[in-house]
Amino acid sequence: MQLERRLIGVRAAMRNLRADGGTVAFVPTMGALHEGHLSLVARAQEVADHVVASIFVNPTQFGEGEDLESYPRPEDEDRAKLENAGCDLLWAPTPDEVYPAGFSTSIRVSGVTEGLCGASRPGHFDGVAVVVAKLFNQIAPDYALFGEKDYQQLALIRRMTRDLDFDIEIIGVPTVREADSLALSSRNAYLTDDERSRAVALPIAMGEAAAAIIGGESVSFAIVAAKAKLFEAGFSTVDYIELRDAETLEPVETLESPARLLAAAKIGKTRLIDNIAVEPR
Ligand code: PAF
Repeated sequence: MQLERRLIGVRAAMRNLRADGGTVAFVPTMGALHEGHLSLVARAQEVADHVVASIFVNPTQFGEGEDLESYPRPEDEDRAKLENAGCDLLWAPTPDEVYPAGFSTSIRVSGVTEGLCGASRPGHFDGVAVVVAKLFNQIAPDYALFGEKDYQQLALIRRMTRDLDFDIEIIGVPTVREADSLALSSRNAYLTDDERSRAVALPIAMGEAAAAIIGGESVSFAIVAAKAKLFEAGFSTVDYIELRDAETLEPVETLESPARLLAAAKIGKTRLIDNIAVEPR
């Protein structure tokens, strides 16, 4: 696997990779790779001839007081994982290749970024939009793969790709879960053993709420019950549990078409997010 840190190098590497006329699938990440990321690489190999991954801990998507400094950066391990997974090229830019001196451009995608994490992490999605747009221009892949775990991020990337005419097919890949159903996340590494055992209350409460809604329970009642279960399990804050339209992310009060139950909640110092499909019978 080739590693590039400079734009001039990655552009040359992309020209070489494309010389055989093959297609390219791109997996952007912030590193601290787990099975969820590797499932993106595996899917990328199925859809394209070549796989490119990136690792860049993007400062503009972290708010004040968030975990930018402490975000795990196990680069050697990440490289080995990508190499074993069959990735052809790793783009690990230095910060000045992404944000050169005087960088002044912003991208705001409205609609799908409103509410949910857009409300609890102001500015987060503007940071995601600008870095993904830059990575798309730097790599110019045919396909780009993102986990459904970050469902609102996936919706924003689909919207931005359509709005800005990126000639890239966006592929969402289902969330990978631990045996007890906790969604894999780089931030799970922050959990103490006790928090880890309590954290499973999140997917359980969401699964129960989803089943209740599908069974005809009122959406607001099911959500109140799910929040109560999280507090009972030791979560300190619930940023949101909401039912949204699966495509537009508009709020849903009555289940009539495919929807998504999305949640963010804090246990100890760790903020966890998750989402599941809720479809009418
Ligand atoms: O999902 C992530 O890891 C990041 O938000 C992304 C898409 C790589 C942008 O920094």
